[in-house]
Amino acid sequence: MTEVSVAKDAVAATDDLVVLKSVNKHFGALHVLQDIDLTIAKGEVVVVIGPSGSGKSTLCRTINRLETIDSGDITIDGKPLPAEGKALARLRADVGMVFQSFNLFAHKTVLENVMLGQIKVRKTDKAKAEEKARALLDRVGVGTQADKYPAQLSGGQQQRVAIARALAMDPKVMLFDEPTSALDPEMINEVLEVMQQLARDGMTMIVVTHEMGFARSAANRVVFMADGRIVEEAVPDQFFSNPRSDRAKDFLSKILHH
Ligand SMILES: Nc1ncnc2c1ncn2[C@@H]1O[C@H](COP(=O)(O)OP(=O)(O)OP(=O)(O)O)[C@@H](O)[C@H]1O
Ligand SMILES: [Mg+2]
Repeated sequence: MTEVSVAKDAVAATDDLVVLKSVNKHFGALHVLQDIDLTIAKGEVVVVIGPSGSGKSTLCRTINRLETIDSGDITIDGKPLPAEGKALARLRADVGMVFQSFNLFAHKTVLENVMLGQIKVRKTDKAKAEEKARALLDRVGVGTQADKYPAQLSGGQQQRVAIARALAMDPKVMLFDEPTSALDPEMINEVLEVMQQLARDGMTMIVVTHEMGFARSAANRVVFMADGRIVEEAVPDQFFSNPRSDRAKDFLSKILHH
């Protein structure tokens, strides 16, 4: 009996990639993350939605320690987040992040942008880093832009380079914080398609987005946040057709009917 439950725990532990337990975070008097419990399994795609100011970006930023937390625990692959130094740099590589603004190095070419972290953090040799960078740029559909500078690319192309740059580190999980909200409408789909493919390939993903079509088709789970709390989580079909909380109902009626 005991043996069976131990074995079960062991299996569960290896499947959980990102685990937040009772996480609290304040900005001064503002309690921006309130007792957040969230477990993301390997290969799972979780879409986080919620009103402006509900703490979605802060949640993402705590997971790769761009923000510290006041209490609680966060583990990636069973290990607590390192506080500083090389271990922290490796964590940032393990937890790829793509923001609304593309954050590419302006004075480096597209190719160099995708090579840099591989060489500096992963200690990959230059030839291998270049080979991998070119393959990834092809994969996200910007292989022909390799020698240009970021400013010479469209927003959608730059965002795909940012995704390739994160992927070049072989991340365990990818965080996306509104990756398409700064893009012109005609460029949104080319970025969402890359993300869809990544999801199909089995990448573990946490995605903050207002793109409900993406949530419906790519997410295994939708997490709805309001006022620093996770108010509701459900599979997309259930969440969109039958939200339980008034906050979620209100939010959905606003974003789906305009
Ligand atoms: N560095 C900071 N210092 C002080 N307050 C902050 C800081 N960053 C965020 N906040 C506040 O914390 C709250 C949550 O912010 P956060 O950016 O996580 O929300 P969000 O859900 O991502 O919102 P949005 O949909 O507008 O991006 C907001 O009230 C915000 O003003
Ligand atoms: Mg945000």
